[in-house]
Amino acid sequence: KILANTIFLGKDVHFLPECHSTNDIALNLVRQKRALEGSIVICDHQSKGKGQRGNSWSSQAGQNLTFSLILRPDFMDITEQFYLNMAISNSLKQMLQDYVPTIEVKWPNDLVVPGYGKIGGILIENTFSGKEWEFAVVGIGLNVNQVDFESNRASSIKLITGSEINLEELFRLLITQIEQGYIQLKKGKWKEIKQEYLMNLYRKEIWANYSSNGEQFEGKIVGISADGKLKIELKNAEIAVFGLKEISFL
Ligand code: BTN
Repeated sequence: KILANTIFLGKDVHFLPECHSTNDIALNLVRQKRALEGSIVICDHQSKGKGQRGNSWSSQAGQNLTFSLILRPDFMDITEQFYLNMAISNSLKQMLQDYVPTIEVKWPNDLVVPGYGKIGGILIENTFSGKEWEFAVVGIGLNVNQVDFESNRASSIKLITGSEINLEELFRLLITQIEQGYIQLKKGKWKEIKQEYLMNLYRKEIWANYSSNGEQFEGKIVGISADGKLKIELKNAEIAVFGLKEISFL
């Protein structure tokens, strides 16, 4: 039984030992009109976890956290959806820095630890009713106790700190922090959310290598546009703006 110190988040938890993707199950609940704001789908082992940009998300059974939150951000316009992304990223970073102080958020919402790699990611999928934003399914994958990975760009809290973490306790702390972040969003604290996001952004104000359309270049992240695109200063002092599939970090 999961007892978190929250107002609405996680009061209704669907726990499954095995599933294909918690995001897909949450989206189904929404389609079947069985979703409540704050419901969570959590699963010990996802057989077909989904990542950003059509990638897959793999996670060893019982070692990590893979879950999806159902939110109803109908107080926002769909054009403002990047703020939900920022609020969730901020909450995760705030909570996880107690375990890993050097954790950063890599645009748009990867949780990375410089020198080690990526330890978590977020995949938000929205549903609409007509032109209105209806539900947001916020999928979170976090590598906690897994110690072997196929990719050398992936890591986990245990690999970094050496200690095993109680998953239930971490889950409770995370949803408490996420609820705080969501309440901040609901109160319209846009400026604060964006400021905090930028403050924690991986590679902000640092010259580094990127590629776009098969072309490599040096650039420096200088900000985020209102719709969540990355603003990069180029060597010729121009500012270029890139969307999700338009740029890769090298
Ligand atoms: C990424 O960084 O590419 C996003 C990864 C998101 C993975 C989580 S795990 C729980 C939820 N269900 C999914 O199928 N994906 C998300």
